[in-house]
Amino acid sequence: MKIAIINGPNLNLLGKREPAVYGSTSFEAYLSDLEALFPEIEFLYFQSNVEGELINFIQEVGFSVDGILLNAAAYTHTSVGLGDAIKAIDAPVLEIHISNTFAREDFRHQSYISPVAKGIIVGFGLDSYRLGVLSFLKG
Ligand code: DQA
Repeated sequence: MKIAIINGPNLNLLGKREPAVYGSTSFEAYLSDLEALFPEIEFLYFQSNVEGELINFIQEVGFSVDGILLNAAAYTHTSVGLGDAIKAIDAPVLEIHISNTFAREDFRHQSYISPVAKGIIVGFGLDSYRLGVLSFLKG
């Protein structure tokens, strides 16, 4: 099974960025744990701060992977283009958030990803990604 993990803007700073909200673990460290936990899965990891690069990567892998875990970060709340990209591909997409966006500012309650995602996993810290993998494993 092949799963792509796609992280949007500022998630390259995980571990350093607002640790009270996002924790103190870097995504690279978390990804090694995830790979050790699921040795049977091939993970493709991509992070970008640039909206168009995220769309390009979704198009690139969206017809070949078994699933995508997408944390579009701030673009979740603004990007019609990311929503359209998800509609255009075959792979199922799970919308992932580390924090509980619904317990935060109003502008974080709006998502262009939710209506086109297979499901949404929000607010479990980095464990949101592991829960997403489990969901793809269950099929
Ligand atoms: C986030 C929530 C977004 O609102 C925010 O802009 C992020 C991270 C999360 O994982 O909790 O950058 O997607």
